[in-house]
Amino acid sequence: MAATQENGAAKPTSTPSTASSKLHGREFYESIGKPKFIVAPMVDQSEFAWRMLTRSFIPASEQSSLLAYTPMFHARLFAQDDKYRAAHFQAVRPASESKEEPWLDGNPSIDRPLFVQFCANDPEYLLEAAKKVAPYCDAVDLNLGCPQGIARKGRYGAFLQEDQDLIFRLINTLHRELPIPVTAKIRILETEEKTLAYARNVLAAGASILTVHGRRREQKGHLTGTADWKMLRFLRDNLPPETVMFANGNILQGGDVDKCLEATGADGGLIEYERTGGKSYEDEVRELYEKEDGPEGESSVPTQKRCKRPWWVVQPIIRPLPSEAMAKGAIRPSKKDLKAGENGQQQNQKEEKEKESSQANGDGAKGETTPHPAVAEVQLTEQAKEIASRDELVSG
Ligand SMILES: Cc1cc2nc3c(=O)[nH]c(=O)nc-3n(C[C@H](O)[C@H](O)[C@H](O)COP(=O)(O)O)c2cc1C
Repeated sequence: MAATQENGAAKPTSTPSTASSKLHGREFYESIGKPKFIVAPMVDQSEFAWRMLTRSFIPASEQSSLLAYTPMFHARLFAQDDKYRAAHFQAVRPASESKEEPWLDGNPSIDRPLFVQFCANDPEYLLEAAKKVAPYCDAVDLNLGCPQGIARKGRYGAFLQEDQDLIFRLINTLHRELPIPVTAKIRILETEEKTLAYARNVLAAGASILTVHGRRREQKGHLTGTADWKMLRFLRDNLPPETVMFANGNILQGGDVDKCLEATGADGGLIEYERTGGKSYEDEVRELYEKEDGPEGESSVPTQKRCKRPWWVVQPIIRPLPSEAMAKGAIRPSKKDLKAGENGQQQNQKEEKEKESSQANGDGAKGETTPHPAVAEVQLTEQAKEIASRDELVSG
């Protein structure tokens, strides 16, 4: 199927059967509360816990002003591999008497509106995966923006850009066959005209919402640079006015969402960190310096001051120190490490006894600061625990 006409404008599609029975575009966007703040999809970050933390800043009556995305999931693995799916998406309580008892992801009372994002290059796998999450979310999003090497290797994300026909088929399959809307997140291309034709193709395929990240595929790592909000404004001005468009890129702090929406004319902005109580970032940093230090710890005032960031920015960056996590029971050393710790203690006690007896015989080194056996024991156990807990944090 040719997705675009020769002049780059997308061909209109016939109204599919499923699409006719579900809301589409602006009507759909309004039905979920016209969210303006959007928690961006982030692999290994925007899971249930992060969404809950972010949503916790919004009063219950305004929950629908915040839309959240899941991290990107791999459609084929999600469709075929039960373990992969169970590890990433837990919508109903396992071993519950009622199989459909809502649990974490997409729980209607605490985790909506929610879009589940997939990467895919096969419409059938994408549909199979999307059907599994459809009862628990508001829309399924196709990731067309991932610029990483793994996406190049797996041929998904921004590496589908050159295959506009496949992009059309992926989106259109969900548009026709899925009971809930489909949306897509793209990156800009090198010219306004090419980006506009791309956006039109995505919309003509049936995407209800178009999210545009204002950077090109090459803009990553040291080439990241800033996002091009002018390009987003060009799209906004040249796409049909009823198009729902989310802007993404350069939104680093609270006030940036409003600046971005003003500059681009978009409906919503994707943020990585949620702002608090309407205070500006500058207000929060100023207040931070007026606060008394108090005890050290994760997200403590001294830690925030060192980072020069409010706690909500500090939190995702600073993980609890192993000893703090140990004290809270969040992590435990493995049996192997505990055993190593015990062996170490025994060895230490043996050495201490030998030292004590040699000192009693008058041949000990003068001034040597040997810890009391009880202290050494504690030190060693702590050390073993610390090492084990660090390993767990790294592997987690
Ligand atoms: C840790 C991390 C993981 C990300 N994972 C995804 C993802 O799974 N899907 C996606 O579309 N974008 C992903 N992104 C991109 C963000 O959704 C967003 O587009 C980007 O961070 C915005 O750029 P900005 O920093 O200029 O605001 C990720 C970004 C980060 C920092």
